[in-house]
Amino acid sequence: MVTHALLGATGATGSAILRALLVNPPTDLQLNILVRSKSKLIAAFPDLTTKPKFPVTITEGPISSVEDMKACIRGADVIHMCIATNVPTASNRVAQDTIETIVAALRDLRDESGTEFVVPTILVLRSGSLNDEYNKAIPAPVHAFLMFALHYVYHDLDLACKYLESVAEEGGKTLLHLIFVDPGSIHDSGPTPTGHTFISDVKATPPQPGISYADLGAAFVELADRRKEFRGQAVIVGATGKVEEHWLPLVSNMLWGLKARIIG
Ligand SMILES: NC(=O)c1ccc[n+]([C@@H]2O[C@H](COP(=O)([O-])OP(=O)(O)OC[C@H]3O[C@@H](n4cnc5c(N)ncnc54)[C@H](OP(=O)(O)O)[C@@H]3O)[C@@H](O)[C@H]2O)c1
Repeated sequence: MVTHALLGATGATGSAILRALLVNPPTDLQLNILVRSKSKLIAAFPDLTTKPKFPVTITEGPISSVEDMKACIRGADVIHMCIATNVPTASNRVAQDTIETIVAALRDLRDESGTEFVVPTILVLRSGSLNDEYNKAIPAPVHAFLMFALHYVYHDLDLACKYLESVAEEGGKTLLHLIFVDPGSIHDSGPTPTGHTFISDVKATPPQPGISYADLGAAFVELADRRKEFRGQAVIVGATGKVEEHWLPLVSNMLWGLKARIIG
């Protein structure tokens, strides 16, 4: 049996992962989902509990609840961490708050489970903008603009990821393994994937600027299957097919970010 915990299943990336799991589940999958609104999840996936393709548990709770997090990630081999925001506001701490709860929950589970503790691999939805290799393919002024306009999203994400790295090994014991999943711009181009690839050398294989959520969801599922190979890496994920790009939501987020940074 393999246990996946999915955080953020009502969001664009999390729901794409869920769709990809429903289409192509690993053998003997147990899926545990944590959401803040179960009714929102069921509205998007009405058959999830009535006609389950594999065993599913759903926990409803806020990201601050260590007990709810423990219920979701107990025994998980894989944690898909997609609780996030695209909206850059000065008070944004959603990634840090979630990661702190995950770490507190894992420490409790490790103390309670002793030698039975399952060290999970956490796949964190990050961004190409935080990936040094990806940034070799981006003109420096464009990267600087993105880091300025989307600062409140990236800063939170960056601190959250650095915190995770700092606690991965503690007291001579492994608490967690990490894979950062780094896409370029993500577009809502419908539920059908175009195809995805993992890029290790951007000069040899320059990524397309955009990837669809459906491609990203399929990429998470493949990375989860191949987690031992990718542990400790920041993986650039690109599309292989033609992605229909929709820039309006992304431009709108950048404008919000500029307003937040310049006016407050
Ligand atoms: N947009 C891009 O082009 C792009 C490119 C690269 C990387 N990224 C990264 O992708 C991430 C955004 O992912 P996404 O597009 O999948 O986001 P999304 O569609 O907005 O989904 C966010 C998920 O997080 C949950 N969530 C947000 N705030 C929460 C809170 N305070 N408490 C509990 N749950 C909360 C949402 O729950 P509800 O459904 O209940 O609201 C939802 O499930 C960002 O970190 C961004 O840096 C984006």
